Amino acid sequence: MHKRVTKAIFPVAGLGTRFLPATKSVPKEIMTLVDRPLIQYAIDEARAAGIEDFIFVTSRGKSALEDYFDHAPDLEASLKASGKHELLEILQNTNMDSGTIAYLRQHKPLGLGHAVSCARKLIGNEPFAVILPDDVIAAEKPCLQQMVEAYEETGGAMVATMEVAPDKISSYGVLDVESQDSAVMKVNAMVEKPAKGKAPSNLAVIGRYILNPNVLCNFDHLGRGAGGEYQLTDAIAHEITAGRNVYGYRFEGQRFDCGSKAGFLQATVAFALARDDLRDELSDYLAQLHATRHAAQ
Ligand code: G1P
Repeated sequence: MHKRVTKAIFPVAGLGTRFLPATKSVPKEIMTLVDRPLIQYAIDEARAAGIEDFIFVTSRGKSALEDYFDHAPDLEASLKASGKHELLEILQNTNMDSGTIAYLRQHKPLGLGHAVSCARKLIGNEPFAVILPDDVIAAEKPCLQQMVEAYEETGGAMVATMEVAPDKISSYGVLDVESQDSAVMKVNAMVEKPAKGKAPSNLAVIGRYILNPNVLCNFDHLGRGAGGEYQLTDAIAHEITAGRNVYGYRFEGQRFDCGSKAGFLQATVAFALARDDLRDELSDYLAQLHATRHAAQ
């Protein structure tokens, strides 16, 4: 029986430069897919997986995130008074209980590995999840929940993975696995952002992890990796070198790369089409657009 995973780290310190000028004053994680901020999807997924403690690694200029998770008593009272119960429920769902949420600052942009290791003291001696909010995953059973269930069998360290196109693989952490026959795959080696033509497979690491405190200790021995940053991939790979098990988990679901503009737009359309209140109007519009473009060609 492995210890239950109840803590999750959300690295949200990135500058979001790909979304300038919007991110000049709005943290990328507050940008909305339809009407919900990106971070809300990550929180909902974590809650569904049984996470009770939420640790945000932030940076300067991210205070809007803290406000977002605060309670809004005036707004709640006004919605209640005007009988807008549905909206009230939506609003109350974003509230976090006092004491369940912690904010840490990463003072220098030294990479994802460094950001995660900033939470070392809060993690203590327990397994924990890491969720990268840029990777939004639409799935019948939320991705982290799938992983927690798999982890109950395997223990060790686990990363979400999916196949990506060969021309994109160098943007990811990449797995070298023993066999690709099942959803849970034993990892032999992993490499962060391999040079073109040097990737050991087309299995990319996607931003969901279940890790143990050993991974954080590995940063004591690790130098900077790809891009001159401290890489989480390197710290996980160190587990394998130390003789401990690392697994790749091929999740069920559709992943959107909301760190890119095209991915963000695709997610916006997909999530809107999944909504009863928007589906008909949006699909009519898309059909019209398609027809007009077709006629113009
Ligand atoms: C990070 C990780 C990388 C992973 C990717 C998934 O990279 O370092 O291993 O494959 O997230 O989105 P980044 O996108 O921050 O460059």
